[in-house]
Amino acid sequence: MNDRMKAEGIRHNDARRFRFQFILQLALIHCFAWHAYSFTTAAEYQSHLKGAESCTSVLCHQNLAKGKMKYEHRPSGDGKCAVCHTAEAYPGKYGLEPNQSITCTDCHKHLNLEIQTSKYIHGPIKNGDCTSCHDPHGSDIEFILKKTYSQLCSQCHSLKGLYSGKLIHKPVEDGNCGLCHDPHASNFRARLTDVGANLCLLCHEDMVPGMTQKYVHAPLLKNGCTDCHDPHSGNDKLRLKTEASRLCFTCHEEKKNEVAHYTRKHKPAAEGQCISCHSPHFSESKHLLRGKIDALCYACHKDKAAWGKRQFLHGPLVQGNCVACHNPHGSDNAFILRLEFPYKFYTNYERGKYDLCFQCHKEALVTTENTKTVTNFRNGEVNLHMLHVRQEKGRNCRACHDVHASDQEYHIREEFPFGSVNIPMYYYKTSTGGRCIPGCHKERSYDRHRAVENRN
Ligand code: HEC
Ligand code: HEC
Ligand code: HEC
Ligand code: HEC
Ligand code: HEC
Ligand code: HEC
Ligand code: HEC
Ligand code: HEC
Ligand code: HEC
Ligand code: HEC
Ligand code: HEC
Ligand code: HEC
Ligand code: HEC
Repeated sequence: MNDRMKAEGIRHNDARRFRFQFILQLALIHCFAWHAYSFTTAAEYQSHLKGAESCTSVLCHQNLAKGKMKYEHRPSGDGKCAVCHTAEAYPGKYGLEPNQSITCTDCHKHLNLEIQTSKYIHGPIKNGDCTSCHDPHGSDIEFILKKTYSQLCSQCHSLKGLYSGKLIHKPVEDGNCGLCHDPHASNFRARLTDVGANLCLLCHEDMVPGMTQKYVHAPLLKNGCTDCHDPHSGNDKLRLKTEASRLCFTCHEEKKNEVAHYTRKHKPAAEGQCISCHSPHFSESKHLLRGKIDALCYACHKDKAAWGKRQFLHGPLVQGNCVACHNPHGSDNAFILRLEFPYKFYTNYERGKYDLCFQCHKEALVTTENTKTVTNFRNGEVNLHMLHVRQEKGRNCRACHDVHASDQEYHIREEFPFGSVNIPMYYYKTSTGGRCIPGCHKERSYDRHRAVENRN
C-alpha cells in the first residue's frame, strides 16, 4: 500500500465513519434474525443493522471477520464495511453503488488513471464490474480473486477455443493469463502486457541474443511471434498457426509459385521443409540460412560428405558454395542445376550447353583451336579441350572431370560411368603435360612444349 493510497483510504473512510456510527447509534444489538437481504431503502438497511457495533460480531458475518481469509481486502478486514455498503447508495442492492468501479476507484486512483488512459479496456471494467473477478471482502487466492486465474477467465471466455489444440502452452495451462494479458486495460491489442516479440522474450530468454543477430526475420520485428505461433494451444508443441509444410508459403507465395513452376523440384523445398535450411527466426548468415551451405546439404546428402575428404576440391566446394551450381529450391535443368549442363558421356556440342561451367571459366576453352594460353590441356598448341568437346559426338566435361572433388589433379575423375559400368581412369601429371589411361582408348600423352605423337 503506497502512502497516497493509505491517505486516500483514511480520508475516504473518515467521511463515512461518521454516518456509519450515526446509524449504529440508532439501532440495537440484535442481529440474530439476519438473513440475506437486498435492501431497497435506507430504512431497510437501518432495520438490518439493528444498531450493531460491528458487522462482524459473533453472530453476524463471521465469515468476513478479520483473520478468516488468507488475503483480506484491507477496508473489509478493518471492519470498514460502510465504505462500500452505504446508506446513500440506496436503492442499490445491498446498499452498493450500482457502478462498483466508482466505489473501488475512489480508493484505487492509480489503477483508475491507468485504465482511463489505456487504449484497450476489458469488457467487464467498461461495465463497472470489478467483482466478477475480485471478492470485495477477501479471498484465499492472491489479489483477492474469486477464483483461480484460469477459472476466473473461463467464467466469461470459452477456454475451448484457447485450448482447442492438443498441446497447451505452459503458462496458459498454468493459468498465468495475466503474464500476457492485463486483466484491466492496456495500450496493446488484446490488452497484451507488452508488444511484439518482447511479450514472449520475457520467458524465452534464450532467444534474446538471437534478436541482435545480423539477420532477423521480418515478422519477428514487425508483429513478434504470433504470426506463426499460437500463443495458447496447438496440435504440436510448437503450436504453429499453419501446418509446418505450408507455414512459409502463407507469406512467401512468390516462392511457392517459383517452386511449383520448376520441372525439377528439390524435394525438401517442394515439400515445404524450408526450415531444414532456413531459420524461421534469425541467423548470422544471409538469407537466414541455418549454417554453412555445404553443411546444410551434407546433413541430408550424407554420402556426399566424403567429398570433403578428397585431396582436390573444386573451387566452389572449397568455399562450401554448392548453390553456385545447384538451385536449392529447384530448376528446369537436371540435378536442379542453375544452368544447362549435359549429363551424357557423348553429346553434340552446342553453344549454351556448358553455360554452367562458363559462369566462371572462359568459354574460349572450347572455342579456340590453337592456343598457347587458353588452356593447359593442349598438345603443343592443339587445344585438346576443343578436340574432345567441340564435335558432333563430343565428350562432356564430366567424362574427364568430377565437378565436385577427386583425388586426382585437375579433378580428373577416378572412374567414369559408361553405360552401366564404371571404367577406371588413371591420370598422371607431368611438368609440361600429362598422361592418361582412360579405358576408352589406349594410353595417351600430351606435352605443351613438344607435341607428342600418340600412336593408335
Ligand atoms: C476505502 C478504500 C478502498 C476501497 C473503496 C476499495 N479498496 Fe481495494 N484496497 C484498499 C487498500 C487500502 C488496499 C491494500 C493495499 C495494499 O495492501 O497494498 C486494497 C487492496 C486491493 C486489492 C489488492 C489486494 C492484494 O492482495 O494486493 C485489490 C485487488 C482491491 N483492493 C480491489 C478492490 C475492489 C475491486 C474494490 C471495489 C469493490 C476496492 N478494492 C475498493 C482500499 C480500498
Ligand atoms: C470494498 C467494498 C466493500 C467492503 C469494504 C465491504 N463490502 Fe460487502 N459487498 C461488496 C460488494 C461489491 C458486494 C456485492 C457482492 C459481489 O459482487 O460479490 C458485497 C456483498 C456483501 C454481502 C452480501 C453478499 C455476500 O457476499 O454474502 C454481505 C453480507 C456483505 N457484503 C457484508 C459486508 C460486511 C459485513 C463488510 C464489512 C466487514 C463488507 N461487506 C465490506 C463490497 C464491499
Ligand atoms: C477480469 C478480471 C478482473 C476484473 C474485472 C478486475 N480485475 Fe483487478 N485484478 C485482476 C487480476 C487477475 C489481478 C492480479 C494482478 C494482475 O494479474 O495484474 C488484479 C489485480 C488488481 C489490483 C492489484 C494490482 C494492481 O494492478 O494494482 C487492484 C487494485 C485491482 N485489481 C483492482 C481492480 C478494480 C478496481 C477493478 C474494477 C475497476 C478490477 N480490479 C477489475 C482481475 C480483474
Ligand atoms: C465478467 C466477464 C469476463 C471475465 C471474468 C473475463 N473477461 Fe475477458 N472479456 C470480457 C468481455 C465482455 C470482452 C469483450 C470486450 C470488448 O470487446 O470490448 C472480453 C475480452 C477479452 C479479451 C479480448 C480483447 C481483445 O481486444 O480482443 C481478452 C484477451 C480477454 N478478455 C482476456 C481475459 C482474461 C485473461 C480474463 C481472466 C483474467 C478475462 N478475460 C476474464 C468479459 C470477461
Ligand atoms: C504467452 C502469452 C499468453 C498467455 C499466457 C495467454 N494469452 Fe491470450 N492471447 C495472447 C496473444 C498474443 C493474443 C492475441 C491473439 C493473437 O495474436 O493470436 C491473445 C488473445 C486472447 C484472447 C482473444 C481471442 C482472440 O482470438 O482474439 C482471449 C480471449 C485470450 N487471449 C484469453 C486468454 C486466457 C483466458 C488466458 C489464460 C488461460 C490467456 N489468454 C493466456 C497471449 C497469451
Ligand atoms: C510466462 C512465461 C512464458 C511466456 C510469456 C511465453 N512462454 Fe512460451 N513457453 C513457456 C514455457 C514454460 C514453455 C515450456 C518449455 C518446455 O517445456 O521446455 C514454453 C514453450 C514454448 C514453445 C515450445 C518450445 C518447445 O521447444 O517445446 C513455443 C514455440 C513457445 N513457448 C512460444 C512462445 C510464444 C510465441 C510466446 C509469446 C506469445 C511465448 N512462448 C511466451 C513460457 C512462456
Ligand atoms: C515465421 C514464423 C515464425 C516466427 C515469426 C516465430 N517462430 Fe518460433 N518457430 C517457427 C518454426 C517453423 C519453428 C520450428 C523450428 C524447427 O523445428 O527447427 C519454431 C520454433 C520455435 C521454438 C522451439 C525451439 C526452437 O528454437 O526451435 C521456440 C521456443 C520458438 N519458436 C519461439 C518463438 C518466439 C519466442 C518467437 C518470437 C520472438 C518466434 N518463435 C517467432 C516459426 C516462427
Ligand atoms: C508472416 C509472414 C511471413 C511468414 C509466415 C514467413 N515469412 Fe519469411 N519473410 C517475410 C517478410 C515480410 C520478409 C522480408 C521481405 C522479403 O525479403 O521478402 C521475409 C524474409 C524471408 C527471408 C529472407 C529473404 C532474403 O532475401 O534474404 C527468408 C529466407 C525467409 N523469409 C524464409 C522464410 C521461411 C523459411 C518461412 C517459414 C518458416 C517464412 N519465411 C515464413 C514474411 C514471412
Ligand atoms: C536445401 C536447402 C534449402 C531449402 C529446403 C530452402 N531453401 Fe531457400 N535458400 C537456400 C539457400 C542456400 C539460399 C541462398 C541462395 C543463394 O545464395 O543464391 C536460399 C534463398 C532463399 C530466399 C532468398 C533468395 C531467393 O531465392 O528468393 C528465400 C526467400 C528463400 N530461400 C525461401 C525459401 C522457402 C520459402 C523455402 C521453402 C519452400 C526454402 N527457401 C527452402 C536454401 C534452401
Ligand atoms: C532436408 C534434406 C535435404 C537437404 C538439406 C538437401 N537435400 Fe538435396 N535432396 C534431398 C532429397 C530427399 C532429394 C531427392 C532424392 C531422391 O529423389 O532420391 C534431393 C535431391 C537432390 C539433388 C538431385 C536432384 C535431381 O533432380 O536429380 C541434388 C543435386 C541435390 N539434392 C542437391 C542438394 C544441395 C546442393 C543441397 C544444399 C544446398 C541439398 N541438396 C540439401 C534432400 C535434401
Ligand atoms: C561446379 C558446379 C557444382 C557445384 C559447385 C556443386 N555441384 Fe553438385 N552437381 C553438379 C553437377 C554438374 C551434377 C550432375 C551429376 C554429376 O556430374 O555428378 C551434380 C550432382 C549433384 C548431386 C546428385 C548426384 C548424385 O550422384 O546423386 C548431388 C546430391 C550434388 N550434386 C550435391 C552437391 C553438393 C552437396 C554440393 C556442395 C558441397 C555440390 N553439389 C556442388 C555440379 C555442381
Ligand atoms: C562458381 C564458379 C565456378 C563454376 C560454376 C565452375 N567452376 Fe571450375 N573452378 C572454379 C574455381 C574458383 C576453381 C579453382 C581456381 C582455379 O584454378 O581457377 C575451379 C577449378 C576448376 C578446375 C581445375 C583447375 C585446376 O587448375 O585445378 C576444373 C577442371 C574445373 N574447375 C572444371 C569445371 C567444370 C567442368 C565446370 C562446370 C561443370 C566448372 N568448373 C564450373 C569455379 C567454378
Ligand atoms: C578429355 C578429357 C577432358 C574433357 C572432356 C574436359 N577436360 Fe578440362 N581438363 C582436362 C585435363 C587433362 C586438364 C588438365 C590440363 C593440364 O593442366 O595439364 C583439364 C583442365 C581443365 C581446366 C583447368 C584450366 C585449363 O584449361 O588448363 C578447366 C577449367 C577445365 N579443364 C574445364 C573443362 C570444362 C569446362 C570442360 C567441358 C566443357 C572440360 N574441361 C572438358 C581434361 C578434360
